[in-house]
Amino acid sequence: MAIKMDGKALAAKLRMQIRDEVAILARKPTLAVVLVGDDPASQVYVRNKEKDCEECGILSQGYRLPADTTEKQLLDLIDVLNQNALVDGILVQLPLPNHISEQKVIHAICPDKDVDAFHPFNVGKIVTGEDGFLPCTPAGVMELLKEYQIEIAGKKCVVVGRSNIVGKPMALLLLRESGTVTICHSKTSHLEEITKKADILVSAVGKVGIITGDMVKDGAVVVDVAMNHNAEGKLCGDCIYDEVAAKASYITPVPGGVGPMTRLILMKNTLTAAKMHIKE
Ligand code: GUN
Repeated sequence: MAIKMDGKALAAKLRMQIRDEVAILARKPTLAVVLVGDDPASQVYVRNKEKDCEECGILSQGYRLPADTTEKQLLDLIDVLNQNALVDGILVQLPLPNHISEQKVIHAICPDKDVDAFHPFNVGKIVTGEDGFLPCTPAGVMELLKEYQIEIAGKKCVVVGRSNIVGKPMALLLLRESGTVTICHSKTSHLEEITKKADILVSAVGKVGIITGDMVKDGAVVVDVAMNHNAEGKLCGDCIYDEVAAKASYITPVPGGVGPMTRLILMKNTLTAAKMHIKE
C-alpha cells in the first residue's frame, strides 16, 4: 500500500517559513487577484488564495469583475496594476470568459509581476533553467517529491497532459532534475503501455478514473494533479485511488495532495516578486 504524500501538511510547514521571511521585509508584499465572472470553482480558488495571503502576511487586493467585462476594461486594469509600484504580483484567475483572449491578457501582465509564470518571457526562463518565477503546480509537485526524498535523476517520468499550466512546465522541471521524460496526451496511442513503464507518473488530465491500477508499475510514485468531481459531486483526481494506491509506493491524495502545494508556490512567487521590487 502506497505512502500518502501529504501536501496539506507540507504546505502548512512551508507557509510558516514564507511568513517569517515576509515579516522581515521593509514593507508587506501585495498580490492583486483578478476574477472575471462567477465560475464557482474559480471563486473558491480565489478565496483560498486570499486566505493564504492573509496567513503569510501578504496583502491581497481582490478585483471581482462581472462576466460581461470587456477585454479592453480588463487590459486597462492590468495596465493600472502594472504601473502601481506597490503591487508586487498580478494573478488573473483562468479560465476567462470566451470573449476575452487569455493570450492577450497573459501578454499584458508585466513579466516581473507575473506570479503565475504564464508570460512567454517567464516560460522561456523555465525552458532555459534561469532563475525566476516558478510554475505553481509543477513546482509544488517538485517540492513534494523533494520532501519525500524521491529520486528523479535517471528515472522514467511520464506526464499525462500537455497544458501550458501543468503538463508542459511539469515535464521541463522533471527534465531539469535529469528525469527521462515522456509527455502523453489525448492523441497518445496505447497510453497504458507508456504509463506502465513510469517510475514517476504525473497525471494532469482532468478525467475521473483515467488512471487505473493496471496502468501503474509496482512501486511507482504517482502524482495526481487533477481536481475533478465524481458522479456524487465529491472532489477527486484522475486516479482510481484505491487501485492505484495498491500498486504505487507513494501517491498524492485528492484533496490534500498537490492543490495546497500549488497555492504555496504562488505565495513563494509573490515573496520573490516583493523582494525584487523592494530592492529596486
Ligand atoms: N486556473 C487554474 N489553475 C490556475 C492557475 O494556476 N493560475 C490561474 N491564474 N488560473 C488558474
